[in-house]
Amino acid sequence: MHSLFITQVYQSKIKTNLASLIEESAQIEKADGAGREWSKQNYHSSYTSYGSWDQLYRLSSEFEKLQKKIDSHVMKYAKSLDYHLPRGALKMNSMWVNIMRPGAQHTAHIHPHSVISGTYYLQTPPGCSSIKFEDPRLGFFMNAPVVKQSAKKANQRYVSLQPRAGDLILFESWLRHEVPRNETKKPRLSVSFNYGWSAE
Ligand SMILES: [Fe+2]
Repeated sequence: MHSLFITQVYQSKIKTNLASLIEESAQIEKADGAGREWSKQNYHSSYTSYGSWDQLYRLSSEFEKLQKKIDSHVMKYAKSLDYHLPRGALKMNSMWVNIMRPGAQHTAHIHPHSVISGTYYLQTPPGCSSIKFEDPRLGFFMNAPVVKQSAKKANQRYVSLQPRAGDLILFESWLRHEVPRNETKKPRLSVSFNYGWSAE
């Protein structure tokens, strides 16, 4: 049996000062009026600095430390993907915070103009949403039967990963994913980011 065209998703723990990152996220929300306005239009009942302060590693040393830690995991991930890239070509180009309050969700999307994307989890109340990935070949299946509920992970059409605070998840930016509704009573906090590449 040949396993071909594999989709790799990376998960690992990163040790950081979670309490500081959580506190700074609250401060960022308070200070970022444009982001709160953007979130009102696009992210009901919640806050993201995606449309405003999207380079948090330039703003705060705590987020910069996080960026450096993520960098080393991205290098490992890129190695596993066998990307043919010059050394140092992959660079983080955006990082933003997401405060998903009860009832908030993030419908299926990809991250255009990026190579590797991911999320680092700061606060994950018990029972909070997973991150759900969709088989990128879904549009080609035509008459293919659905798979058994008991199908092994590699054969499932959707796979939900349940990250915990301190977990890092990396995926290729073209891989469609969503965050279902936060059904808990507490906010789910995360930091998301994109990496691009350039030959220079
Ligand atoms: Fe995303």
